[in-house]
Amino acid sequence: MTFLGIDLGTSGLRALLVDEDGAPIGSTEQLYNAAHPQQGWSEQDPADWVMALDAAISEMRDTYPAFSRLRGIGVAGHMHGATLLDNSGDVLRPCILWNDQRSHAEAAKLDKIKGVRDLSGNIVFPGFTAPKLKWISRNEPEIFNATAKVLLPAAYLNYYLTGEYVADMSDSAGTSWLDVGKREWSDYLLDASNMRRDQMPRLVEGSDAAGVLRKELAQDWGLGGTVIVAGGAGDNAAAACGIGALDEGQGFVSLGTSGVLLAARDGYQPAPETAVHTFCHAMPGRWYQMGVMLSAADSLNWFARMSGQKPSELTADLGDVLHAPGEVRFLPYLSGERTPHNDAEIRGGFTGLSAGTTREDLTRAVLEGVAYGLRDSYDALAATDARLEKIIAIGGGSASRYWVQLISTLFGVPLQLPASGEFGAALGAARLGMIASTGVSPEGIVTPPEIYDEVHPGGAQSAAFEEGYQGFREAYAGLKQIQ
Ligand code: XUL
Repeated sequence: MTFLGIDLGTSGLRALLVDEDGAPIGSTEQLYNAAHPQQGWSEQDPADWVMALDAAISEMRDTYPAFSRLRGIGVAGHMHGATLLDNSGDVLRPCILWNDQRSHAEAAKLDKIKGVRDLSGNIVFPGFTAPKLKWISRNEPEIFNATAKVLLPAAYLNYYLTGEYVADMSDSAGTSWLDVGKREWSDYLLDASNMRRDQMPRLVEGSDAAGVLRKELAQDWGLGGTVIVAGGAGDNAAAACGIGALDEGQGFVSLGTSGVLLAARDGYQPAPETAVHTFCHAMPGRWYQMGVMLSAADSLNWFARMSGQKPSELTADLGDVLHAPGEVRFLPYLSGERTPHNDAEIRGGFTGLSAGTTREDLTRAVLEGVAYGLRDSYDALAATDARLEKIIAIGGGSASRYWVQLISTLFGVPLQLPASGEFGAALGAARLGMIASTGVSPEGIVTPPEIYDEVHPGGAQSAAFEEGYQGFREAYAGLKQIQ
C-alpha cells in the first residue's frame, strides 16, 4: 500500500508518495503564480491547482511503480482562501488568497460584532474567509448571489478528487464561521456575514475519511481498488502532523511564503487579544496556536527578484557565521501584518541606507527583519502560556543556516533541523491519508522526524540582537506615523 500527501502551497503544489511505514518514496513539485491585480490583492485561478495536480500525478505515475498501490490521499492547502462555486459546481471567480488585504474594512467591522471573537476564538483578520465574502457582496453582488458553495483551497481539491463538498476542521477554523471550541459551523457567525449553512461544505476531522477517489480519476491514474481521501488539513496543521507536533510543548517555526510559529495545545484556550491564531488541529479533540507573519520567505523572494539573484545565492553570500545586527533595517510588511499588529495597511521599508550599503547588507537586513517579526510572534505566543520546549525549523527558508541561527538567537531557544524538512505539510497530509484509509493509530504514525542538526542561540550576539529587536519595534511605530 502507498499513500499520497498533496501540499497545495502558495507558490506551487508538492506531492509526496509514502510507503506503508510512512517513509518517503518520491516527490514532485509543480509551480504556479499568484496574481496581484491591485495593491494588496492576491488571487489564484483554481484551474491552475488542478493542472498542477494532474501534472504531479502523471509524473508520480510514470516515475514510481508503487503509485499503482495507492490507497489513501490527504490534501493540505494554504488557508483562508475563498473559492466560490455556483449551483453546478463551477468556479465563479479567482480564489482570493490568505495574504489578500482588500477586505480589511469588512474584517474590522465583523471583528467588532459582539460574540464573534468569542465563538471563532480569533480576531477576524482581513485574510480570513468571512470578510472576503462581505467584500464580494458589496463589490461583486452578482457573484455573491450566485455563490452556492464556498470552499477553502484544500476543500476544492477534495471536491475535485471525490466530487463531494467536504472540509476538515483545522482549515475551516480559519474562516471566522466555525465555532472553534465546538468544532461545528456557527449559525451566529454565518449570519454575521450574511452567509447560510447550505453554502458550507460538510465538516469532518482531518484524519477521518472525507470520501472516495472518483472512478474516472482512479481510471485515468491507472489505479484499481478503493482510494480513500482524508479530510486533510490547513497547511500549518498538516505541517504539525508532518513533524509530529500533537502535544503541548511541541511546535515549529516555518519560513515559507508566510512565517509561522506554531505550538500544539492540549486544550482550547483562545487568546484573540494577543493576535495569536487559535485553530482546531487536524486530529479530533486537539487544537493549536500560532503567530503568523505574512511575508517571511516572501520578503527574501521579493529582494531576490529585485537584485536578480536566487534567494539561495543571496543567503550563501552571508556565510554561516552570525554577524552583529547591521545599520540597515528592513521592515517585512510587504503584505501588511497579522501577529502581533493586525495591520493590513502597513507596508515594508528599508531604513539606514547609505552610499556604502552593499547587497549583502540588504540581504542581512531582510533576514533580520523577518527574524524580528517572528520574535514578535514568539512573545505573543508566550503571553498565551504556550510552552515551546522543542522548536523544529521547516519551510524553504530553513535551508539558510544563517537565518535559522538568527531566529534561534532572537528566541533564545535551540532550533532543530529535520533531515527532510521540505516534506512538512505534504508528509502530514500523507499521514492523514494513511490514518483515514487504514485506521492506524495517529500516535504511532504522527511522530517527530529524524533531526540532523540543532542550531543554538549565538550567545555573544544575544544582547546586540535584543537591542536590535527593540529598535525594530520602534521602527514599526515610526513607519506607522509616516504611512
Ligand atoms: C495561516 C496563513 C498562512 C497560509 C499560507 O493563517 O494564512 O500560513 O496558510 O501558508
